[in-house]
Amino acid sequence: MAEVRLEAVRKEFGKAVAVEDLSLTIRDREFLTLVGPSGCGKSTTLRMICGLERASAGEIFFDDKEVGYLPANKRDVSMVFQSYALYPHRTVGENIGFALRMMRVPKATIQEKVLTAATTLGIEDLLDRKPRELSGGQRQRVALGRAIVRDAGAYLLDEPLSNLDAQLRVTMRAEIKRLHADLRRTFIYVTHDQVEAMTMSDRIAVLKDGRLQQCAAPEEIYDRPATRFVAKFMGSPPMNFLSGELRDEDGVRRFRSGDLAVDLPGLPDLDESQVELGIRPEHVRVSATPQEGHLPGKVFVTELLGADVLVTVKVGEALVKARVPTPFEIGLDSAAYVGIDPRKVHLFAVSDGRALHNASSAQGAAQKKAQKKAQETGVA
Ligand SMILES: Nc1ncnc2c1ncn2[C@@H]1O[C@H](COP(=O)(O)OP(=O)(O)OP(=O)(O)O)[C@@H](O)[C@H]1O
Ligand SMILES: [Mg+2]
Repeated sequence: MAEVRLEAVRKEFGKAVAVEDLSLTIRDREFLTLVGPSGCGKSTTLRMICGLERASAGEIFFDDKEVGYLPANKRDVSMVFQSYALYPHRTVGENIGFALRMMRVPKATIQEKVLTAATTLGIEDLLDRKPRELSGGQRQRVALGRAIVRDAGAYLLDEPLSNLDAQLRVTMRAEIKRLHADLRRTFIYVTHDQVEAMTMSDRIAVLKDGRLQQCAAPEEIYDRPATRFVAKFMGSPPMNFLSGELRDEDGVRRFRSGDLAVDLPGLPDLDESQVELGIRPEHVRVSATPQEGHLPGKVFVTELLGADVLVTVKVGEALVKARVPTPFEIGLDSAAYVGIDPRKVHLFAVSDGRALHNASSAQGAAQKKAQKKAQETGVA
């Protein structure tokens, strides 16, 4: 088994709809992450793929085989659960090998497979310990070990790093990514942490209220978010948003929000004029002196991020965040002028939050055109 395909999958719990009209293909050997806020249907989706929940409607395929009727143990998937519980009275080795014992795999084979899994995770010296004698990170690895000890077509991981402290998460993040490269199998990973999604995935599927918002590579999600929700959820510190209106003034396309104006030369015609302008903090400049096209404001607060400073400037009623290199030498409440790079602006429809224009869509369109041409002519 390689590819996992969901077609118009829906899951209801009584009157509540947890997952709605979800169509998604997870490619062979891909690392796909389902991301979204708490309650958006991530675990439910994974449990349907795994066979622990039945879809209320729609179909799930593994390669070309429909698996909706198959129980979990017949599905060739291995899962790490969100609330993993290790057997406290069994050793690490017994915990890892438990599924194999249930499958009546010969003892010698179990030992060999447990050792291989444990070595991959760097816990081969801990096999005789009990879970209580382990640190949180080691326990988390045992939970992973239980999943990877089985040879499966797809590995499903539901927030496998949720119980770790920030530092361990970063280490384990890289280790899981490495594990994926070594195992060369399909990984479906669930998290509510957008940084994990960004750093680990081949593609990211963003869910909100049980609905798929966008499924694309991390760069695409970041540069060309399909909706305001995706734009806001993905990226840290998050994108700035200003509500306003698009107008033609003095022969220029202009975004206006109260007294604030941003000129957007070369903006194509859009089908709505009530918009929210989105700009990522790294595309906002701040200067101490007035500049052409900059918006006047006052420094509201500064936060050191390390090499950069996150500067919040009060512009009219709006707070605009800029990520600028250190040192930043404008004091609190001092005048500051905010420059928004018009080439980096995103515009979202106020009516439904869909993206009307993305910063690099012109480039994206050019790339697509070039790719299409290459396909047609057979020249890569
Ligand atoms: N067994 C159940 N019975 C009733 N409602 C459920 C059940 N399981 C999940 N739900 C509901 O379905 C929705 C989606 O739940 P799900 O567990 O898939 O969310 P999630 O995205 O995994 O959230 P989290 O990040 O908190 O783990 C939620 O509103 C939840 O309350
Ligand atoms: Mg969950």
